[in-house]
Parts: sequence; C-alpha cells; structure tokens
Amino acid sequence: MKTVVQNDSLFLCYFSNMGQKNKLAKWADNLTFGNVYQPKTSEVLNTNYHLKGKWNTAVFKNNHPIVLELGCGKGEYSVGLAKEFPEKNFIGLDIKGNRIWKGAKEAFESSMKNVVFVRTRIDFITSIFEENEVDEIWITFPDPQPKDRQERKRLTSPLLTERYKKILKPNGIIHLKTDHEGFFKYTLQEIKDNNYHLLEHTFNLYAEKIADLDEKTQRILSIKTFYENLFSQKGHHIHYLKFQFKKP
Ligand SMILES: C[S@@+](CC[C@H](N)C(=O)[O-])C[C@H]1O[C@@H](n2cnc3c(N)ncnc32)[C@H](O)[C@@H]1O
Repeated sequence: MKTVVQNDSLFLCYFSNMGQKNKLAKWADNLTFGNVYQPKTSEVLNTNYHLKGKWNTAVFKNNHPIVLELGCGKGEYSVGLAKEFPEKNFIGLDIKGNRIWKGAKEAFESSMKNVVFVRTRIDFITSIFEENEVDEIWITFPDPQPKDRQERKRLTSPLLTERYKKILKPNGIIHLKTDHEGFFKYTLQEIKDNNYHLLEHTFNLYAEKIADLDEKTQRILSIKTFYENLFSQKGHHIHYLKFQFKKP
C-alpha cells in the first residue's frame, strides 16, 4: 500500500512538474511572439500604460476600430473575429499567460496583424485604454461569481461597467455570451436598472435565435471558446445578449 501511495505521489509530482514546465514554456513563448503585451503592475496601477491612447498608432499602425475581448482565455473569439474582420483591430485581455498563449501562437503563426493580447487584470483597463478608444467589447463565458459577496468581481458589475463606459465610444456595443443563467439574469437586470439600451437577448442562442440571423452574424456567434465547448457538452444552453450604454 505504501509503495502505491509513493508511486501515486511520484506520478502526480511528475505530471504537476510537467504542467509547470509547460506553463513556463508558454510564458517564454509569449515573449517571442511580438503580439503579447504584459504590463507590470507598476505600469498600470494608478498610472497610465505607455500604450494608452496609442494602440492604433503604435501597435496596429492604422485607424481601424478596436474590439476588446475581456477574459479572453485561449483567445478563440479574438482570433476568430480577427479572421472575419480584417478591417478591425482585436485585443484579447486575460490575466493568464498560459491561456493567452494559444491565441497568440495561432495569430503569430498565421502572421495576423490585426490581433494582439494583453496579459493583465481587467481592473486596470482605464490605465490601458484612453476614453473612447474602444469600439466594441466582447465578454465570453466570464466566471459567474455567483455569491453575493463576489458581486463586484462580476464582469458586468457597476464597478466594471463604469470603466467600460469610459473606454468605449458612446455608441459602442458590449456583447456577452454565457451559459450561466444567474449571471445572465443579473446582467439583464443591470441593463434595465441603468436604462442601458438592450439590443438583443436570448436564453438559448442556438435553438431560438441563430437561424434568424444573417450568415456572417451566424458565423460570428457560433465561434466556440474552450469554455463554451465544455458547457455545451454538459448540455447547458448558451445565452447571448448585446447592449449599448446609450441609444444612438
Ligand atoms: C471561465 S474563463 C473563460 C475564458 C474564455 N473566454 C472562454 O470562454 O473559454 C474566464 C477567464 O477570465 C479570466 N479572468 C477572470 N477574472 C479576470 C480579471 N480580473 N482580469 C483578467 N482576466 C480575468 C480568467 O483568467 C479566465 O481565463
């Protein structure tokens, strides 16, 4: 029995080292792709990141609209949308470098010039983006933070939406895709309470909505992230909404 436990521990230890190595290798790769920006805390905490207001001029070198994906994970939406819209610029933002790695690698290997990634906390977005610098925001399968005490961490909490309001152009659109009914209802209530302008919503995107949309919108809304695949396999319905802060 003792041997088995020892062997199991060794086995687990071996795989956890492999996982760690893997992470370190991905972090090292991120430094070489040229499309991953990793501000230090001292560059964004109570100070402006040097690219604030300059994403188009200094990074993309054009004046195309900027689309930001928050909590992008492996970047399926940022990369997928960037392929659909070569005339827009995409920025995927997440705190986890080993997740961003997947999207950054694909963009690098495909020589995509209209998508980059930022490894930082969403909390810092007003240090990273200038007022009105962003045209559109996508929030894809955010952590639902279901407990009451976690409300301020929800990506559609007043604390964060006030920041989105600052960086987003006045008619900018926010898209949300989630499988979490509680989070979705919370967001709908926030939109209602704040008199935001709800443009579209469905509790079951694939069964109720997608067939009514044009082909390009169908393709866009059918992009599957890692978490969407995970939740779909469990039989969860996919909820989708889009809103603006003000009516145009
Ligand atoms: C449930 S995962 C979804 C990832 C991806 N959008 C998907 O659908 O596969 C939530 C992601 O949000 C990121 N995240 C959560 N809170 C964050 C924060 N405050 N700042 C930056 N990233 C955050 C996590 O690192 C994680 O990758």
